[in-house]
Amino acid sequence: MTRSASTLDRPTLDGPVDPDTLRVSDVVHAADSPDAAWWRQAVIYQIYPRSWSDSDGDGIGDLPGITSRLTYLRDLGVDAVWLSPFYTSPQADAGYDVADYRDVDPLFGTLADADALLETAHGLGIRVIVDLVPNHSSDEHVWFQAALAAAPGSAERDLYMFRDGTGEHGELPPNNWQSVFGGPAWTRTTDADGTPGQWYLHLFDRKQPDFNWENPRVRSEFESVLRFWLDRGVDGFRVDVAHGLIKEQGLPDARERTTMLGDTQSTEGDGTTDGDTADDGVDHRVHTPYWDQDGVHEVYRVWRQVLESYGTPDRILCAEAWVEPQERAVAYVRPDEMHQAFNFDFLTAPWIAHDLRSVIESSLRAADSVGAPSTWVLSNHDVVRHASRLGFEPGHRRQNGIAAGDPQPDRALGLRRARAATTLMLALPGGAYVYQGEELGLPDSTDMPDEFRQDPTFARTAGAETGRDGCRVPLPWVAGAPSNGFGPSDRTWLPQPDVYREYAVDTQVGVEGSTLELYRTLLAGRRDLALGTGSLAFVEGYGSDVVALVNGGREQVLVVANLGAEPVRLPEGAEVLVSSAPLVDDLVPTDTTVWARWA
Ligand code: GLC
Repeated sequence: MTRSASTLDRPTLDGPVDPDTLRVSDVVHAADSPDAAWWRQAVIYQIYPRSWSDSDGDGIGDLPGITSRLTYLRDLGVDAVWLSPFYTSPQADAGYDVADYRDVDPLFGTLADADALLETAHGLGIRVIVDLVPNHSSDEHVWFQAALAAAPGSAERDLYMFRDGTGEHGELPPNNWQSVFGGPAWTRTTDADGTPGQWYLHLFDRKQPDFNWENPRVRSEFESVLRFWLDRGVDGFRVDVAHGLIKEQGLPDARERTTMLGDTQSTEGDGTTDGDTADDGVDHRVHTPYWDQDGVHEVYRVWRQVLESYGTPDRILCAEAWVEPQERAVAYVRPDEMHQAFNFDFLTAPWIAHDLRSVIESSLRAADSVGAPSTWVLSNHDVVRHASRLGFEPGHRRQNGIAAGDPQPDRALGLRRARAATTLMLALPGGAYVYQGEELGLPDSTDMPDEFRQDPTFARTAGAETGRDGCRVPLPWVAGAPSNGFGPSDRTWLPQPDVYREYAVDTQVGVEGSTLELYRTLLAGRRDLALGTGSLAFVEGYGSDVVALVNGGREQVLVVANLGAEPVRLPEGAEVLVSSAPLVDDLVPTDTTVWARWA
C-alpha cells in the first residue's frame, strides 16, 4: 500500500524532535531489481567540452583534453559521461547550432579524436552519451543553405519551417511566437534579387532554424545520424529540446513566450520582456503550440527501435523536455520511448523541506506509473549552478544568470546548502546527473564583465537577461597555474573569476572534507549500498524543516536533510556513513544532510 498524495501535501508538525517516536511511512517507491539495466541507476557526469580541459592552449576545451583527463572521472566514480555538442558548428549557441551532425568541429578535434575518447572511456568502464540536437540545425547546414537558395514551396524549403509573412506585403511575421532567447521567433529571408522573401521559424537564435518534422526526410536523416554515432560506439543520446519538434497544425498564436528556464512570460504588448518570470501558479506550457505536442512521441518510438536494434547493453535516450505537469513529462519515458528524462522539477525546487519532499515523492510516483526510473539533477550548462542558486534565500527570483550589478549570492551559504542538496540527491533511487565542476563546489561567475558574454540571450534581450555564461566558465584544475590548469596557456574563452583558484582540483584531491572528496565518498557509497536501485519511504516525526527518508538498497540507509535552524538528533543506534558538514555534538546542524546505517 502507498500513501496518498493528499497526505504528502500536509507538512509535518513543528516541535522538538524525539527520535524515539520516528515512524517510517509506507513505501513510496519499491526497490528496482538488483540486476536492473545500468541506466536505471547510473550517475552521469555532464562535460561541457568548451570548458572542461584544453589540450592545445587556444582557450577552448577539446576532445583530446577530455580524453587526457578521463581517469579523474573514473576516480570520481561516475558511470557515464554526457558530452554537450562537439559537432561542426559556427558556435552561435556554443555548438547547439549544428552544421554537420556527422563530424567534429575543428575547435574540438577530429572524428579520430572522438573515436579515441570513446575507446579510452570504455577502457576505463565509463559509458559515453552524446548530445543530439534535432529541433533545429545551424543556418550554415547545407540543407538550410539549399533551402534559402530554393524557391518558396520547394522540397528544399519544406525541410524547415518557411512561411509567407502576414500584413499587406508579408512584412509581418507569420504569427506572434517569440524566441526562447528573446525577440521574435521568425526571421525574414531576402530573395536572390534582393527583395524581401519568406520568413523562417527559429524557436532559439536566428542562426538556429527549426526543422520541419512532418517531412519524412528529416525523420530518416536523424535515424541515420543516430546510427552513425551508434556505429562508432556511443552508449546513448541526450536529446536537446525533445518537446519542441512538432508544432501545432496551423501554427496558431501563442499566449506566452517560454524563457530558457522553462518559465513563461506573456506575449501581450510588444513581446519584449523585463526579465521577470511568470509565477502565477498557472500551467501555461500545456497549451503552448510549439511545446509538447503529442506527435513528438511517434519520433521517439522509432528511435527506441533503432537503439534496440543494437542489442544489449542498452543504448539510451534521455529527454531534455521542460514539460509540465509531471504526468505529461513521464510520457517521454514510457516503455517504448526514451529511457530517461531530466527532472527539472527537482532542479527548480526551492530549498524548503516540504517542497523537496513533495517533488521527490511526486517524481517517483510519476516515473513509477510508466515503469521508468526517476532522474535527479541540480545543475547543468543552462542554469545558475546550485552552489550559487542556493546562496539566496528561497523565494529569490529564479534568474537566468547573475550579473555584477545584481544582488550577489552568499558563497559560503550556497556551498553549504549545495553540499547538503547533493548528499540528498545522491541518496535517491534512480539515475542522477552531475554537472562538471559541481564536484568542486564551483559557484557561477557572478561578476563577468558584459563584453565577454556570449550567450545569445544577452544580446537578443539587450542585456535584460544576463544569460548562461556564468555557469560555463572553464574549470580550474591546478590553482595558480596559467588558466588554473585548464590548458597549457593562460587563455580561457570566458574569464575565470579570481575565486576559482580556491576550488581547483589539486587543492581538493585527498583533502578531508573537501567537496571533491565528499562527492567521491557519496558516489562510492551510493554504489556500495545500491542506493540507485533502492526503495524509498519517508521518516515521519522530524519537524517541517527536515527531509528524512529511508532508502532500502543493499541495507537500510537513513537520510536526514536538516534545512532548519535547529540541529536535529539521529535515532539511537544510527551509524553515520557520510555527512555533508561536520556534526555538532552528535547533532545534524543546519543545512546538512547525513546518511546513516539504520538497522
Ligand atoms: C537546450 C540546450 C541549450 C540550448 C538550447 C537550444 O535547451 O540545453 O543549451 O541553447 O537547447 O539548442
